[in-house]
Amino acid sequence: MIRFVFTRTARYPGFEVPHYQFLRNLRTAFVNFKYRGFISTTLGILAIACSKFKLPLLQKYRFYQQNMDQRWLDTDGIVELKNSDIPDEFHQSASRYEAASDYEFRDVLERLAIDYGTYNFIDYGSGKGAILAAAARYPFNAVTGIELSQALHDVAVRNIAELGRRNAIASKSLTSVQGDATGYHLPAVPHIIYVFNSFGAEVLQAVLDRITTDLAEVQEPVYFLYNNPMHHIVLDESAEFQKFSEPFGGKWMIFVRKAENPV
Ligand SMILES: C[S@@+](CC[C@H](N)C(=O)[O-])C[C@H]1O[C@@H](n2cnc3c(N)ncnc32)[C@H](O)[C@@H]1O
Repeated sequence: MIRFVFTRTARYPGFEVPHYQFLRNLRTAFVNFKYRGFISTTLGILAIACSKFKLPLLQKYRFYQQNMDQRWLDTDGIVELKNSDIPDEFHQSASRYEAASDYEFRDVLERLAIDYGTYNFIDYGSGKGAILAAAARYPFNAVTGIELSQALHDVAVRNIAELGRRNAIASKSLTSVQGDATGYHLPAVPHIIYVFNSFGAEVLQAVLDRITTDLAEVQEPVYFLYNNPMHHIVLDESAEFQKFSEPFGGKWMIFVRKAENPV
């Protein structure tokens, strides 16, 4: 037990950054109570206990496959690179598709305590748009995703249309753009940047350089939310960004860039 609390490990080495799994589980339990409510969370925990004792009870309440509150969105599944339409030259740098938990994301975002209306939100490697949908619950000035895969982008476009039909968009705009993250220019306004381990260190560095140039004149703090930060060294070594927090036992890392001479 003591080892479990104080050891940083990765459940999926090579795919996942080592983190304090005990702290992550604690925060995950808290987030479940916060967003799913007491009854669903308790049933979910009981379902896990039943499966540990090989009892075929309550399994429909298991948490997995329930990462999204809006279950009518098409965000499920893992798309390996070899099964995707991403061109071969990107296979070295790109990560496979898998959606993040919108509950974790919302918890991290809400703790920034920012004025959403001041900010644009961007997801580099937005896939089917799970986190775009979660971000669009907040009154951001704009929510934009940039995704390399045409097929995943097409799913995101359908999800955005569905969100619109259900009046589930609080942000002023919600857009998925198909293309390479390194080629995307940001308008010079305050940004919340989000990456779920979408690419390797070289691409991350190129994206960070572009962000730094594009947002050079922005005076408000710029936040970089890095989920499963496999290449956090790029941000650790950046002269502009500082570590802000490491929620979920370090499974997430949040960095902030504060302007040198704020007005
Ligand atoms: C782990 S998924 C993250 C999906 C989504 N952001 C989320 O949090 O649910 C990473 C995504 O990054 C995309 N990707 C990889 N390299 C990219 C690049 N250079 N430009 C844009 N998207 C890229 C992949 O196609 C994949 O859909």
